[in-house]
Amino acid sequence: MIARASLLGVGLVALALGQSACDDQEPARARLAPAPKAGAGGDAEVVKKASRPAPSADQVQLLAKRFFAPLPARAESATNPITEAKVALGRTLYYDPRLSKNHDVSCNTCHLLDKYGVDGTPVSVGHKKQNGDRNAPTVYNAALHFTQFWDGREPDVEAQAKGPLINPVEMAMADHNAVMKTIKSIPGYAEMFKAAFPEAKDPMTIDNFGLAVGAFERGLITPAPFDKFLQGDSKALSKDALRGLQLFVDAQCVTCHVGATLGGTQFQKIGNLKDYPTEDEGRFKVTNNEADKKVFKVPSLRNIAKTAPYFHDGSKATLTDAINTMAEYQTVKGSFTDEERADLIAFLDTLTGEIDQEYIKQPPLPESGPNTPKPDPT
Ligand code: HEC
Ligand code: HEC
Repeated sequence: MIARASLLGVGLVALALGQSACDDQEPARARLAPAPKAGAGGDAEVVKKASRPAPSADQVQLLAKRFFAPLPARAESATNPITEAKVALGRTLYYDPRLSKNHDVSCNTCHLLDKYGVDGTPVSVGHKKQNGDRNAPTVYNAALHFTQFWDGREPDVEAQAKGPLINPVEMAMADHNAVMKTIKSIPGYAEMFKAAFPEAKDPMTIDNFGLAVGAFERGLITPAPFDKFLQGDSKALSKDALRGLQLFVDAQCVTCHVGATLGGTQFQKIGNLKDYPTEDEGRFKVTNNEADKKVFKVPSLRNIAKTAPYFHDGSKATLTDAINTMAEYQTVKGSFTDEERADLIAFLDTLTGEIDQEYIKQPPLPESGPNTPKPDPT
């Protein structure tokens, strides 16, 4: 599944930088050698410094710019221009539980905006406390992904947003007509749809629901210390984080986790080097193509320290578990020493961004009207 060309590219870059490393640096390759274990009575800290010096910030910055990019302020879309009125409507709909059968599930039930867009459980709980079969990915920065869902079955956040409403274990509405009937029964929404879609003859449609929620999600962007680093602030990363970033490149995590969101740019098989145990057939369910069994969208690593548990099935409780699994199943490296893992985590921590509290503030929901359906617990 790994594209040979890009693997080669990574190797060449690491090699080139290793050769041009300045005087106080070991070549990049040498740093890949496993660190010797501290012997009895040995000082682990001394061993660490002697075996794995931190690369210079400037050198790592050059390297990082080849693979990553800072987050944009918003995930702009040519087909869904972001307007204030659309965002205001989308934000309100995002928080409205009346769009679920029993009026107890909203988008924010499973993608809590004040919890980095996740619910912290292996698989989400929706209508009638039913479990889904996959882990809820974060909505932060998701609009930047090349496709939506673990298996890429929807092209963008606008199309994606219409799905959960009628998923029987999520919001459980009978169909999109039922959703629109509820929305139309809430008097305040008419004006908001009109403001958001001023040119539309009939603004209250399910497609416009998707456009409004999508426009809101396009602003859920979390700039982090790593962005400052990419923009030229060489002090934005600690020594540990610099070593971790260098290792992230050397261990070829960048083959898959690339771009502004360190993921979300391609599909890859889980169990690239060794069969990974999972019942989930991944993208095969969408394409029916044998080669797509156990293939998933490579997830973004933005805010990864805040979005446990991990993987499509939520089976890995900690970042340590997730990194160990990646080393074993996805990379030739096979495993990391404790020091290396600590450095990787120090790097991944720099991807934790700021949440714009003003942007995510729950607005007052427009009041129900006389015809608004009552909650239905069945
Ligand atoms: C009951 C829990 C639940 C509710 C309610 C819910 N989601 Fe999700 N969401 C999930 C799960 C689980 C997935 C992953 C499913 C999959 O990939 O098959 C997901 C996937 C997504 C994704 C894809 C992210 C990515 O990286 O691919 C987005 C975006 C999203 N949801 C937005 C929303 C919006 C908007 C709403 C409200 C209209 C919503 N969700 C309601 C659980 C939920
Ligand atoms: C060959 C492609 C590939 C390589 C190389 C790779 N990954 Fe992944 N990574 C994936 C895929 C695919 C998933 C999702 C797997 C799943 O959910 O079943 C994933 C998931 C993850 C997750 C969990 C994300 C989440 O939100 O659940 C972390 C953390 C991670 N990778 C880190 C790394 C690190 C660190 C490296 C380098 C040691 C690495 N990956 C190398 C493809 C790759």
